Formats: sequence, C-alpha cells, structure tokens
Amino acid sequence: MGFHRCASVADMEPESVCEVVVAGRTIALARDEDGRFHAVDNVCAHLGGPLGRGYVDGDRLVCPLHSWEYELRDGSCAMLPGFCLPRFAVRIDGDDVLVEVPDPVPATAASTTE
Ligand code: FES
Repeated sequence: MGFHRCASVADMEPESVCEVVVAGRTIALARDEDGRFHAVDNVCAHLGGPLGRGYVDGDRLVCPLHSWEYELRDGSCAMLPGFCLPRFAVRIDGDDVLVEVPDPVPATAASTTE
C-alpha cells in the first residue's frame, strides 16, 4: 500500500475525469465542481463501462455507456441501492495528485493461497 503520483493538479479542470494507471491498476481520477479530487474503480457496476472515459456533472461521475451516475463523495449509485464503487485515498502534494492503491499480489503468493 502506498501513494503514487498519477497526475498534475494543473492538468485537470474542475468537472473532469480521466483514466490513470496506478501500480498496474486502472482507476478513474475525477475532479468535482468544487475542485476536489476523487479516485474510484474504473469499472462501472452495470456492464463494466470505463468510468474514466465518462464525464463529471457537478459532484457525480457519469458512465459513458449508459449514463449510470455515481456520487463522487462516497461512490454510491442511485441505480444500485447499497452499492458503492471502491474508492482510493487521494493526497495533493504541491502540483502532484497522489493516489493510494493496494500493492499488487505477487503471482507466487496468489498461487499458494488456498
Ligand atoms: S456500463 Fe456503465 S451504465 Fe452501462
């Protein structure tokens, strides 16, 4: 587990989103209308749409495929009560946007856990 630099503050306008790869994992990095950054899983709970290729409307992230909406503050989705997108901690250090993601599981460790 650790924070990884994944973007520059200056590169993202409020109400924008992009896909970033952090420690081998693709996530959706979004900036809400107030300029706060949010990092969530890139996979839509509907049919797996790439959320980082969608758009931000106020404080909601909208999937590009069928427009399901997720609240950026907690990952909740009105279409799936009780469901929340996995979220990742974000830290700003100067102009750097840092996201904390779990370390990938080494292949040898994964194959020995049963
Ligand atoms: S895949 Fe995201 S709304 Fe359908």
